[in-house]
Amino acid sequence: MEEERIVSPELETGDKSLEKSLRPQYLAQYIGQDKVKQELSIYIEAAKNREEALDHVLLYGPPGLGKTTMAMVIANEMGVQIRSTSGPAIERSGDLVAVLNELEPGDVLFIDEIHRLPRIAEETLYSAMEDYYVDIMVGQGPTAHPVHFPLPPFTLVGATTRAGMLSAPLRDRFGIISHMEYYQESDLREIVLRSADIFQTEIVDTGAVEIARRSRGTPRIANRLLKRIRDYAEVQSDGVIDQSIADQALQLLQVDKAGLDLVDQKLLKTMIELYHGGPVGLSTIAVNIGEERETVEDMYEPFLIQKGFIKRTPRGRVATELAYQHFNYPYPN
Ligand SMILES: Nc1ncnc2c1ncn2[C@@H]1O[C@H](COP(=O)(O)OP(=O)(O)OP(=O)(O)O)[C@@H](O)[C@H]1O
Ligand SMILES: [Mg+2]
Repeated sequence: MEEERIVSPELETGDKSLEKSLRPQYLAQYIGQDKVKQELSIYIEAAKNREEALDHVLLYGPPGLGKTTMAMVIANEMGVQIRSTSGPAIERSGDLVAVLNELEPGDVLFIDEIHRLPRIAEETLYSAMEDYYVDIMVGQGPTAHPVHFPLPPFTLVGATTRAGMLSAPLRDRFGIISHMEYYQESDLREIVLRSADIFQTEIVDTGAVEIARRSRGTPRIANRLLKRIRDYAEVQSDGVIDQSIADQALQLLQVDKAGLDLVDQKLLKTMIELYHGGPVGLSTIAVNIGEERETVEDMYEPFLIQKGFIKRTPRGRVATELAYQHFNYPYPN
């Protein structure tokens, strides 16, 4: 991506320490995702009462919604350690065995982007998840033989933006599958107020609402916008974030009233101007806006669909009447 994207849900450098300080530690501090929280709290309590490891958990949903945060919360609630790795970081099954080897009873193993785990490592994971052991091949050639290697009971927490890309055998080994949804404005408002409090930034309610409304349903974006708006408020005003300051800063950041940034806008305008609103294929859209197909599919499209700007049809994507209205284009009949 060439353009820096203020509403990109992806992690940017410099965000790391910010993320850390803003991360809720326990379920009670975790705002929104009520359905996921309610389910997890029951399973966590039951597992704790039985003094067992929590069943394996798959968290899926668009980037920046708090999957990594939830994995940490699960470990905190269970009172265990968390070890983290990611699908792309594991190249051979040996890499996975090395991580598994470090686990203590009850620990959480967090695998981010689990859909990108190489197939061979994935197969190693099957027995680890199901029966807490791995078979490792020792020796070479004719003397090679499998060694049975027991593991302590543990909880695998997998995170993915695309549950559809997990193989069925892997998906089936998760006892708890939780779908993370885009946040409601009221939840994002609370998140913004909480973050502002951590930053010791003064914000009035209408300012928080404005940021919440324009954060693409995503806490990571809400926090990032808040940070930039705080700068704006300090330099251009008295440091207090109200609705007008938030709106001015967001205009400067080219985030529109619906929270769409330049890339979202370009995407929709391309569909309308070049393809008469569609149907148009995802790959065609991606090429036109200079993004990877996967990026469009994971990051841009889900939000635009949820907001009702795009519809999926068997013949491709279609821009809705709402999209036309948003840009003041006449809607063709
Ligand atoms: N429920 C929440 N309440 C408050 N802050 C939250 C909440 N969920 C997420 N955040 C904040 O949003 C940011 C992003 O969260 P996190 O890194 O967990 O997202 P993610 O889903 O793992 O994203 P990715 O898919 O990009 O890895 C963090 O800074 C975190 O503090
Ligand atoms: Mg994450």
